[in-house]
Amino acid sequence: MITTAPVSGSGDVRFTDDDFRALAQLAHAEFGLALAESKKPLVYSRIARRLRARKINDFSSYMALLKSPEEAEERLELISALTTNVTSFFREKHHFDTLQKDLIPQLEKQQRVRIWSAGCSSGQEAFSIAMTLTDALSEASLRNARILATDIDPAMIRKASAARYALEDLATIPAKMQQSATRPCAEEPASFEITAPVQRMVSFGALNLMEPWPFKGPFDAIFCRNVAIYFDHQTQHRLWSRFTALLREGGFLFIGHSERVAGPALDSLQSAGVTTYRKAVAPAPTTPDRRQE
Ligand SMILES: C[S@@+](CC[C@H](N)C(=O)[O-])C[C@H]1O[C@@H](n2cnc3c(N)ncnc32)[C@H](O)[C@@H]1O
Repeated sequence: MITTAPVSGSGDVRFTDDDFRALAQLAHAEFGLALAESKKPLVYSRIARRLRARKINDFSSYMALLKSPEEAEERLELISALTTNVTSFFREKHHFDTLQKDLIPQLEKQQRVRIWSAGCSSGQEAFSIAMTLTDALSEASLRNARILATDIDPAMIRKASAARYALEDLATIPAKMQQSATRPCAEEPASFEITAPVQRMVSFGALNLMEPWPFKGPFDAIFCRNVAIYFDHQTQHRLWSRFTALLREGGFLFIGHSERVAGPALDSLQSAGVTTYRKAVAPAPTTPDRRQE
């Protein structure tokens, strides 16, 4: 089937099944994205915007451009076009309740607290974690608590690092934390900012989850929510296993509402609530009973 639609105002652009397959192959190899054939019209309309932005009139020129080593930025634009950055403070709030109720008592006993927001978009998830820790952890434990927050999209990382949000985003932040962790923004009256101590707990960086990760963990919790939904099953299974390897025993993996952990990671994870998993604690090694030898 050939899909066509005007791209630059100068006529229709052909988008054949072969074009779709070439794009799907590239998106899978570079970003782990699984683009089903049924998504072709949606993919086409999103890619057409990129062709318009780059003033390109045919799809094969765009594919050639994507493969060029100098076009790393365009490959990131492509993933932005194919995924969504939708997020909010305290989204899927039950995860933050679990963090507070089931993990924080354990964190109080530790020297070091590390949490990863993987696929953090514009930062609301990471700051919700920081606000929860700030609200519930003792000052001594807070001093050693760090949140790592990564996303493939550098534009999202820039937005997250600015820690400035529209006033309407306040609505989902519990009132107590609105008071303690946010402040009005003097330069932009329609915005608010995250307070400096809460900001300092979070380090933002760009990272494609399909590539090697530059840290070893262990993490007390990993939030990877509404990200793996774009990946095929094999890629998801690999991702769950990689996360599990970086979790501390008893650590939590939180995933998105329409996602589910499957594959080898389940050997080490136990379900601990809705879209919540906990790494099992390995049994202590037993000393062989010499009398029976
Ligand atoms: C819908 S947002 C989820 C934000 C947040 N985790 C939440 O649940 O509210 C999905 C994010 O995943 C990011 N993403 C998609 N593929 C990725 C990849 N291969 N590596 C890292 N981030 C990726 C996107 O850039 C986007 O910001």
